[in-house]
Amino acid sequence: MTSGAARHTDIFGAVSLGYAVVASQRLTDWRRFGADALGLHVDELTTDTTRFRLDDHACRLLIQRGPSEDVTALGWQVDDQATVDVLLARVADAGLPVTEGSDEECAVRGVERLWRVPGPKGTATEIYTRATTSESPLRMLQDGFVTGAAGLGHVAITAQRPEQIRAYYASIFDARLSDWVHERIAGLPLRIRFLRVNERHHSVAIAGIHGLGVDPIRTAIQHLNTQVTTLDGMLAAYERVIDHGFRMQWSVGQHTNDRELSFYCVTPSGFEWELGWNPIVVTPEQELTWAPRTYDSISIWGHTPIGENVVTRLNNIRYAVRAARRGEPALPAF
Ligand SMILES: [Fe+2]
Repeated sequence: MTSGAARHTDIFGAVSLGYAVVASQRLTDWRRFGADALGLHVDELTTDTTRFRLDDHACRLLIQRGPSEDVTALGWQVDDQATVDVLLARVADAGLPVTEGSDEECAVRGVERLWRVPGPKGTATEIYTRATTSESPLRMLQDGFVTGAAGLGHVAITAQRPEQIRAYYASIFDARLSDWVHERIAGLPLRIRFLRVNERHHSVAIAGIHGLGVDPIRTAIQHLNTQVTTLDGMLAAYERVIDHGFRMQWSVGQHTNDRELSFYCVTPSGFEWELGWNPIVVTPEQELTWAPRTYDSISIWGHTPIGENVVTRLNNIRYAVRAARRGEPALPAF
């Protein structure tokens, strides 16, 4: 049992994004996209299950056959059982249900044990302490990825009620505000807040359309970011994405806030993948004096929309209107 005091322990720095689970019917496309274009290590477990590795973890991205073409769960690795207990106490306080993952679910995700709670936009938040590592060497078209204590990368989420999602990550993971970007993107006045849970500048970005309360994106995340160790690795993947016929969304550019160089392309399930290089980290010294800033653009240079036209913009607006009618899955207590 976790005491009242323990649940107030600050767990900032003890949490990192571990894996993503995707439901898709397009496993062949995912294999080509992940392995041949981005350059990840692929393991095809069954005809319905494909896993990708970026490092020694057995699973960093799990594709399971299913109809939604969307991310269904985000796995978050925490340091130890004491941190799990703090998290579960907070989840209980928030009135959210917790279920334990089955042996089969744990095995396919490459974790020893997991606890599942409802997360933003209908996804599951899966909490675990230990990832299974793979003995077999990485076979991939990248020199490497930056993971470690900073985790897999980051996700960006669009929301009707961005404040609710901020409150979710702040109250469960002690996420801290890194900074804001206010900019018009695809014709929409976006306000994006960037939250960190460790030294990575942000593990979650949350975008809302100012003043409208609508969500222009069908999928649970707008993009998933992973970070390669070399600029050459990023640029070669850019070429391969185009050569293999996958859609590029934003050309290579550099972000204002975390200074990451990156490009964005479209995954077979419709959300985007940002492949980046060399973002800043928030060091323990910087952590002491960090003051969030507001930037008026998301990029210093580049990140030019590719293939965006009036149809893309109309689709965004059409989807936003439909989503507003349908409503967003609520997170009770946030
Ligand atoms: Fe990003």
